[in-house]
Amino acid sequence: MNNKPYLLKLPPKGDERGWLVAVEGLKEIPFEIKRIFYIYGTKGDAVRGQHANRRSEFVLINVCGECKVRTDNGCGEKEIFWLNKPHEGLYIPRLCWKDMFDFSENSILLCLASEGYDSSEYIRDYDAYCAEMKGIHHG
Ligand code: TYD
Repeated sequence: MNNKPYLLKLPPKGDERGWLVAVEGLKEIPFEIKRIFYIYGTKGDAVRGQHANRRSEFVLINVCGECKVRTDNGCGEKEIFWLNKPHEGLYIPRLCWKDMFDFSENSILLCLASEGYDSSEYIRDYDAYCAEMKGIHHG
């Protein structure tokens, strides 16, 4: 099972006025976009996320400021991504644990999702998540 996150370069279009980034579902974004939400005004010591989703895939774009995202596949593979460019996105597949932290005061984290909101698809218990993933990875 592949639940590995990766960075996406989003091509900025520039002219003498400045920059513009445009993305479309199934083009720059590897799924159809069904939902958009954004996170802002986050306290510097706050940790958000702390869950995995059974169905939703995400692309996270820090369009202003910066934050970090720690990902975890439940089997010991952990990565930290520093999101600090409006033309870079982090693709997060299904069943990937994520924590967002170290938000700058001005951070606006734009989140594109493949599904509408459904709280029942969230796994919020880390130990239960790891147990489930070990079962999936090791058959
Ligand atoms: P939460 O899952 O805690 O956000 P994060 O992933 O950043 O830690 O969501 C915060 C609140 O917002 C919670 O009451 C659920 C609600 N919410 C929605 O109503 N729709 C959404 O698409 C999302 C992501 C959250």
